[in-house]
Amino acid sequence: MNTKINNLSVFTDGNKENKSIVFVHGFPFDHYMWDEQVKALSSSYFCVRYDIRGLGESPAEHGQFTMEMFVDDLKEIVDGMGLTKPVLCGLSMGGYISLRAMGRIENMFSALILCDTKSVADDNETKLKRADAIKRINDGQFELFIEEFIAICFSDSFINESEKEYREVVSRSLKNDPVGVKGCLLAMGGRTDTTELLPEIKIQTLVICGSEDKLSPPTVMKPMADEIPGSEFVLVEGAGHMAPVEKADFVNGKIAGFLKRINM
Ligand code: MLT
Repeated sequence: MNTKINNLSVFTDGNKENKSIVFVHGFPFDHYMWDEQVKALSSSYFCVRYDIRGLGESPAEHGQFTMEMFVDDLKEIVDGMGLTKPVLCGLSMGGYISLRAMGRIENMFSALILCDTKSVADDNETKLKRADAIKRINDGQFELFIEEFIAICFSDSFINESEKEYREVVSRSLKNDPVGVKGCLLAMGGRTDTTELLPEIKIQTLVICGSEDKLSPPTVMKPMADEIPGSEFVLVEGAGHMAPVEKADFVNGKIAGFLKRINM
């Protein structure tokens, strides 16, 4: 089912009577990146996905986004869908939103799954890269930026061995509104550092990281997981930043096992 909440496109699969999972995608993707998770989990869980403001089918409007606005949107969706303590699952930018949500609305969720993400805010080098990306998009290099950025997101083996799937991801991302893409870059560059929230997280947490992730590598994610009380850490061998897409069966097994263990 496809519905609108707060002008954002929300997609649901499964029986609403079941426990729910809210999936928050990464940049510059949209809800489709969770297709394989939804296929595997929607017979047992009510799966809710949405397109982050400015991406996919959610309009860019003014394009002036902040991470705080993205957390407001998440809250509106959980409230608007009438979800009771869903599991929150975010990848990368979706993980930034999820981590910030822990500081503001943790009690709305029953468990947390963080995929290929990090709590540290952008350092100066990354801020300058965001600024350069916005300039390039303004200068007419949107397509080139998307192509180059997505190439960093996947492992070399996925790009070489799953060329068709890879090209589909790229062509879908190229359909995004450049204004929305720039808005997300602004929001990510201006986000707060959530590292100090990690020891305060009270809900059960699963941390998933591709061994070849260049943007949030295991050397960053394992120490982050260690800061979250009682969290579980899973290394996805051979996957890059898009572990749930690249090694979907393995990741789905880990998510399903985690949800069973925590009695969901
Ligand atoms: C993402 O996948 O959401 C992005 O790589 C996050 C980022 O650029 O920091």
